[in-house]
Amino acid sequence: MSSLDCQARSAQSCRDCELAQTRRQAVFGSGPSQAGLIIIGEAPGAHEDEGGAPFIGRSGRLLLGLLEEELGLTRNDVYIANTVKCRPPQNRTPRMKEIEACFPRLRTQVETIAPSSILCVGATAQRALTGDRRPMRDAHGQVFDTHFGIRAVVTYHPAAALRNGSRIVEAMRADLGVLGGLLGSQR
Ligand code: URA
Repeated sequence: MSSLDCQARSAQSCRDCELAQTRRQAVFGSGPSQAGLIIIGEAPGAHEDEGGAPFIGRSGRLLLGLLEEELGLTRNDVYIANTVKCRPPQNRTPRMKEIEACFPRLRTQVETIAPSSILCVGATAQRALTGDRRPMRDAHGQVFDTHFGIRAVVTYHPAAALRNGSRIVEAMRADLGVLGGLLGSQR
């Protein structure tokens, strides 16, 4: 069994925070183990909790559609994970103690994949990975150093685009352009 498979199996029996009480399953991550890009969202939603893979609902369709349109990358080309591996009840924002409890798993996961770049999707990933707490309107499209020593671009969460429409979608497209530059500079 690969190292990522072992990590995924161990996440299923994790009881390190109270999200373990309400999740259907931990959603560890999906994609090639040698991906050059890892996309990190916030936490699984209802679809992900049921289906066992990240970003398989409406938000994911929007995000992955933009990724393909802007960079020509599909789900098969990138690794996708979340800051927190278990669904918070009613999709509330993960609490700091839940993020801290899950962080060692995320670190090991990122270090195993060893991508050249990270896309932080939404404020939870932005804050957890970079420590930057500026509002998304100021942070998106910027390149940050992460706690993992890998550079990241921050963008809006697609749920914000689904709520607020084309202005956020256009910002996400531009952010993906910045990511494309970062990926290109590391080839
Ligand atoms: N939102 C996220 O942040 N991650 C998912 O996997 C699904 C929705």
